[in-house]
Amino acid sequence: MFVSENLTVNEKGRLAIGGVDTVELAENYGTPLYVMDEQMIRKNLRRFHESMQKFYDGKGLVCYASKAFSCMEMCRIVASEGDGLDVVSIGELYTALKAGFPVEKIGFHGNNKTDEELKFAVENNVGHIIVDNISELNRLEIIAADLNKKPDILFRIKPGIDAHTHNFVKTGQIDSKFGFALETGEAFTAVKEAINCKNLNLTGLHCHIGSQIFDISPFEEAARVMLAFIAKIRNELGYEIKGLNLGGGFGIKYLNSDDPQPFENYLEKVSKVINEECERLNISRPFIYIEPGRSVAAPAGITLYTVGARKEIPDIRTYISVDGGMADSPRYILYQSQYEAIVANKASQKRSERVTIAGKCCESGDLIGENMPLQHAETGDIIAVCATGAYNYSMSSNYNRLQKPAVVFVNNGEARIAVKRETLDDIIRNDV
Ligand code: LLP
Repeated sequence: MFVSENLTVNEKGRLAIGGVDTVELAENYGTPLYVMDEQMIRKNLRRFHESMQKFYDGKGLVCYASKAFSCMEMCRIVASEGDGLDVVSIGELYTALKAGFPVEKIGFHGNNKTDEELKFAVENNVGHIIVDNISELNRLEIIAADLNKKPDILFRIKPGIDAHTHNFVKTGQIDSKFGFALETGEAFTAVKEAINCKNLNLTGLHCHIGSQIFDISPFEEAARVMLAFIAKIRNELGYEIKGLNLGGGFGIKYLNSDDPQPFENYLEKVSKVINEECERLNISRPFIYIEPGRSVAAPAGITLYTVGARKEIPDIRTYISVDGGMADSPRYILYQSQYEAIVANKASQKRSERVTIAGKCCESGDLIGENMPLQHAETGDIIAVCATGAYNYSMSSNYNRLQKPAVVFVNNGEARIAVKRETLDDIIRNDV
């Protein structure tokens, strides 16, 4: 009935997530509130790692992309599932290390890592570093030599694939700030250089073509392009690339009209391409990594708000204003992303009107969504926005000096706090 399968209506006619009444969550923890369903996170991770087992003989690692949603509790859950982690900054790496995440399963990304970040990663023996450009390669070689270490590295490659998704979340095409280009020969030259680096161990290649992709064919195409490059390196340089990271980007359902592929289909189809191509090119099957972020976290989360003002503008629209907005939910103002919303305390009622849900920030564009079907909402009602578990908390800000909301995890009917709500003193804690 709702867009995410962990949402139900309980005997009080209220929305429940993971068996917990959302109106009680709002009462107990306040709003705005991020709520994450632990069982759903685990289930999504398992769908990926079980299909790695089933379709690729377990010769791979699922590395959750923590940029989608990161906090220490999330890192602990991913670690307990035996999966790996993709981090993209010293902050995400620090969070993972403090949560006790097994360092050998962490891959460190970023198109412009600072020397401080590289040094921190090498000192802490991070599993591998995904090198984005020649400047980074050269700096990393010096840092590793200074520390007397030899970290494993992967190269981020632009496979030249144009995935059909929003321009801001495409990354695989040649005009992208990420990675080495294949077409220009840049990637091949860099591989030759890396092979000669005494303090670096080039173990693999990486590509990521974009995000919220519904089609599997661009992923299959990316795998083909990358394997052809692995074969070229073997044939022309006699060097064996053992690992292939195929990135993330699997689409999810934000609206009932969205029709993403089941996550299992992805590895089923891509593994088939890898097996066929490796045989054809006469190369060994690489160890593969995948980096799902959104598909793990988004469907597991909701955001709860309290309705303040209701403003009806005849023949134009009705604004329902809530106590959060673009500071905690920036995806509408960035990408006009669409979400399903539910009046949590009226969840059993029919959606009777179409409204614009507005935030409380001083910007006209600060909306949760427009033309959203909703139950009749009035002051004091609780609104749940669905499938907000990815790229909302992680992209939240303190715009207008708003305090960042708390994050609560629910698990089989129980709720616990994972990130505390910011206080007013948090807002000024670094002011002098
Ligand atoms: N691996 C790499 C190298 C990435 O850059 C990303 C996402 C992922 C994995 C995970 O992709 P996912 O499975 O979550 O699609 N802020 C945007 C999404 C940006 C994605 C950035 N990179 C949004 O809110 O839609």
